[in-house]
Amino acid sequence: MNSAKMEKANLDWGDLPFGYVKTDYNIRYYYKNGEWSSGEISSDENIPLHMAAPSLHYGQQAFEGLKAFETVDGRIVAFRPDENSHRLQKSCDRIYIPRIPDELFLDAIRRVVAANARFVPPHYTGASLYIRPLVIGTGARVGLGPAEEYLFIVFATPVGPYYKGGFKPVRALVVEEFDRTAPRGVGDCKVGGNYAAGLRGSMFGHEKNYPIVLYLDPKEKKYIDEFSTSNFIGIKGDTYISPDSITILPSITNKSLAVIAGDMGMKVDKRKVDIEEVESFDEVGAVGTAAVITPIASIKYRDREFTFCSNENAGPVSTKLYERLTKIQTGEYEDRYSWLMEINP
Ligand code: COI
Repeated sequence: MNSAKMEKANLDWGDLPFGYVKTDYNIRYYYKNGEWSSGEISSDENIPLHMAAPSLHYGQQAFEGLKAFETVDGRIVAFRPDENSHRLQKSCDRIYIPRIPDELFLDAIRRVVAANARFVPPHYTGASLYIRPLVIGTGARVGLGPAEEYLFIVFATPVGPYYKGGFKPVRALVVEEFDRTAPRGVGDCKVGGNYAAGLRGSMFGHEKNYPIVLYLDPKEKKYIDEFSTSNFIGIKGDTYISPDSITILPSITNKSLAVIAGDMGMKVDKRKVDIEEVESFDEVGAVGTAAVITPIASIKYRDREFTFCSNENAGPVSTKLYERLTKIQTGEYEDRYSWLMEINP
């Protein structure tokens, strides 16, 4: 059925926060005796979990975040789910969780989105259906070691912009008091521990009225790593710059924007970015699935403040990148790299 003609859930689509809204279904796959089950749709929002599960004690869990959209011509599409599948496999390898095969991952995305099709926001609202795949070690185990059983669950929830106001600049603070990751830790994997380690830094920023904080590399404390929620990008002249670091999460949004920037005739540069260089950038953005591109108005670094734009208006390049990306996602701009996976409700 055409999504635009479907009876949608009764929600204030234009005013959704980035939060949890109950939807109809989630999907669950169980790993036992070396095999993943074929997946069952559930309407239960809770999961039965043994109190000795290694995911609870030893943080043996990994997750993903991706979005589904309604296109202008009424289709439902997920943005680059194959990339999330590959990234989840990398996270799983690192923390000893059995890989979720691509076919199973994509099956989960198709089924959970189709089952919750009435929660895919109408395209003109700017909102999306956020999809959260999560894999956790479930079997009871007290000694340190990987679980023998796992649950892979995917839920979906309609969301608005991550930062208040949508595509509106926010102020950032460089946090040096706490690290998000260790030099050879799990910073490049999407595991809960990185976000738990970053909570203290985020709250430190919030207390000082900075909605977002920026981390430097944990070894030299000199190079840009990433923001608390998302990757860092900088625009300098006609160059799109993103930091090269082994401790940052390879953002799918960043990777996509780099391609778009190249298509727009910009140079694309992935290299170490010294915090001292940032002062010379024309524009800075925080990029990720949830953040999309959040323009950074200024960065407070020790006793200095680097300013890139006003609190009201993003810079011209960030604006163009944002528009191109969101138009691809809603089918208003050619999907020339087949980034969209169509889902039949
Ligand atoms: C995402 O962008 O999808 C994330 O998982 C980041 C999270 C802080 C919401």
